[in-house]
Amino acid sequence: MARNWLLFLCGFAVTIMMICPASSSADWNILNQLRKRSEGAVSAGRSLKNYCESWRFNVELNNVRGFEVVPQECTDYIAKYMTSTQYKSDCQRAVEECQLYLTTCCCALKGDGKDAWIFDVDDTLISTLPYFKKHGFGGNKLNLTSLEGWMEKSKAPALEHTLRLFHEIKKKGFKVFFISTRRESLRDATVDNLIKEGYHGWSGLVLRDLEDENKHVKNYKAEARKRLVNEGYRIWGIVGDQWSSFDGTPGAKRTFKLPNSLYYIS
Ligand SMILES: *[C@@H]1O[C@H](CO)[C@@H](O)[C@H](O)[C@H]1NC(C)=O
Repeated sequence: MARNWLLFLCGFAVTIMMICPASSSADWNILNQLRKRSEGAVSAGRSLKNYCESWRFNVELNNVRGFEVVPQECTDYIAKYMTSTQYKSDCQRAVEECQLYLTTCCCALKGDGKDAWIFDVDDTLISTLPYFKKHGFGGNKLNLTSLEGWMEKSKAPALEHTLRLFHEIKKKGFKVFFISTRRESLRDATVDNLIKEGYHGWSGLVLRDLEDENKHVKNYKAEARKRLVNEGYRIWGIVGDQWSSFDGTPGAKRTFKLPNSLYYIS
């Protein structure tokens, strides 16, 4: 009798062990997990707004990485933020920190034409917001064909604070380089767009050609900086909206991150 009971217990334990892994592995989908956690967070006294603000903040901290879409429950929140005065104010503050650095760093400029500064293009110099306004504010999986079709029209507006910064940096005697993940095929459209929005007098615009498209963006960008350093440039600063613009070597003396919670480029 005791032996039968033991057998029953063992059988029960085995059954449980078989069920448990099965039920947890059913939740492999990260979005389901996020959704579940967000419900948990809300019921623990945090609002959906708190949850989405934390998501956005952790994107900026580079804790949330490689997301393909903005979590569905946060697209309204992200839409509100990206079109808000707060977004503009956050960009402005980043630019002000950069201006502060410029007042301290640059006594050491040699004036030999080898002091360089780097900018990203999209959502640093010019804004893709008008496109994302019409395509779900990052809530839809990115359709590159459609985005590039929009870029071909050269209608991206300048980010006003960066435009001012660009001219200040140029005036200080830096050579300014743009390193972008845009493809070579968009060169004419990109140059048109930049000039139309008030950018002129840059020293180089690096775009991705076919062989760069298989590289991680951070490697492609680091290689572009390497070429500059090999040409004798000293890279003082990078202004960008993606962490992949700062990673790898050679780096810059300082980097300045602009907010962007619409998409993540790794
Ligand atoms: C992506 O955009 C293009 C151009 O607008 C469109 O023809 C295509 O159907 C879209 N693809 C998907 C998967 O939505």
